[in-house]
Amino acid sequence: MDEHKQEEGTKSNGGDQFSKSGFIFAAIGSAVGLGNMWKFPYITGKYGGAAFFLMFIICLLAVGLPVLMAELAIGKGGRGSVSTSFNRLTRQKGWGALGFLMILAPFLILSFYSVVAGWTMYYAVQSFTGRLFNSADYSAQFGSFIGSWQPVWWQLLAMVLTAAVIIKGVSGGIEKFNKILIPGLVILLLALVVRALTLDGAGEGVSFFLRPDFSKLSAESALVALGHAFFSLSLGMGTMITYGAYVDKRQSLGAATMAIGLGDLLYAFLAGLIIFPTSFAYGIEPSQGAGLVFVALPAAFAAMPFGSLFGGLFFVLLAFAALTSTVGLLEVPVAFVREKFNWSRSLSVVVVTLLVFLVGIPSAISVGGAVGGLQFGDKTFFDWMDFICSNILLPLGGLIVTIFVGWVWKNAAEAAGLKSAWFNVWLFMVRYIAPILVVLVLLYSAGALDFLFKG
Ligand code: PFF
Repeated sequence: MDEHKQEEGTKSNGGDQFSKSGFIFAAIGSAVGLGNMWKFPYITGKYGGAAFFLMFIICLLAVGLPVLMAELAIGKGGRGSVSTSFNRLTRQKGWGALGFLMILAPFLILSFYSVVAGWTMYYAVQSFTGRLFNSADYSAQFGSFIGSWQPVWWQLLAMVLTAAVIIKGVSGGIEKFNKILIPGLVILLLALVVRALTLDGAGEGVSFFLRPDFSKLSAESALVALGHAFFSLSLGMGTMITYGAYVDKRQSLGAATMAIGLGDLLYAFLAGLIIFPTSFAYGIEPSQGAGLVFVALPAAFAAMPFGSLFGGLFFVLLAFAALTSTVGLLEVPVAFVREKFNWSRSLSVVVVTLLVFLVGIPSAISVGGAVGGLQFGDKTFFDWMDFICSNILLPLGGLIVTIFVGWVWKNAAEAAGLKSAWFNVWLFMVRYIAPILVVLVLLYSAGALDFLFKG
């Protein structure tokens, strides 16, 4: 890329950039989110416990990390919002429009992810005040909460907090926020792991999580593990491209990729050491679905000493994890709108936040079913959003990235800054292995492989 373009790039991201450590904190903050606590336990429970966790680790290392590095390299090379970065790195037409798909995905994900972020804040308050434990029917409590209008206001709060961070910019907002919240998150995580591991009967949960039964491994569990590795590393949604555009030019992407991958893996591991021992100690089935966190765990907290405190801390942990991710999601469309319309950061943040809030309202009121009856086919509006984003847009985004870096963009080596042997391994993964596996995930999500699995 010539000097002129490079300068233009720096200008278009506001000249604002992460410090080296700030970038690592922000990227780990984006990766570490609700996914590891709210989705991971029930898919792990459903697809075979430790054997599934092992698959997840393999997918994360073998496919997730190369794709993560590819996204960071696009951002670092293009230094703009997702579609601008694509456009700057190739003369081929159409890539900017494909990049737009990766701006739509985080916008839509944010609309329902912020709903769940709102739930976690509500549950933290309910737990600390003890109100959560007034009645022992946690399923009814959760049902009446999500069936009311309250989730709309909690979602609004999550969005306002997210916007307040983004509005302060990359180094003054996103970086600072993550540098405060991530250490807080680590302390909460460790405290809760100690609590969970010292419960009577915790051992059974630990062995379910860590002792693999290889007979449970299947092609289906491998595909689910790969899909989750993508979601967990925030891939296919433009976040890592957008964050990559703000890295210090001297930042080593290889080391950063390893740090982000390890951070996410460690978090998933520690989250498992909280959820599984707690579930097993209180006789809860870990494969019971998303309700695990909001229905089953409160019952466990109610039964343990200082449960109100530990419950409250658990939901604060979730809220922290959620907000460091919503920040990464919101920045993607904000960066795009700023560039596209030449608006100030503040105006872009306000407009996009309002739009996300409005699009999120149907998700916020559709889960309980009590308001509006927003059910289409076999899924609520919320479940459709999750399904379309996580199972279709996200792998599609991953595919776009791998094809672009593997086959279209000629100067990936420079942005990646890898030594040639590592570069060749990386390029091989991005060119061949990752796209093939991602296409399999897409086909699986679309039901095209049902004849293999469900026959
Ligand atoms: N990685 C987050 C999680 O596991 O919860 C989800 C996510 C956040 C995806 C931010 C994408 C993103 F841009």
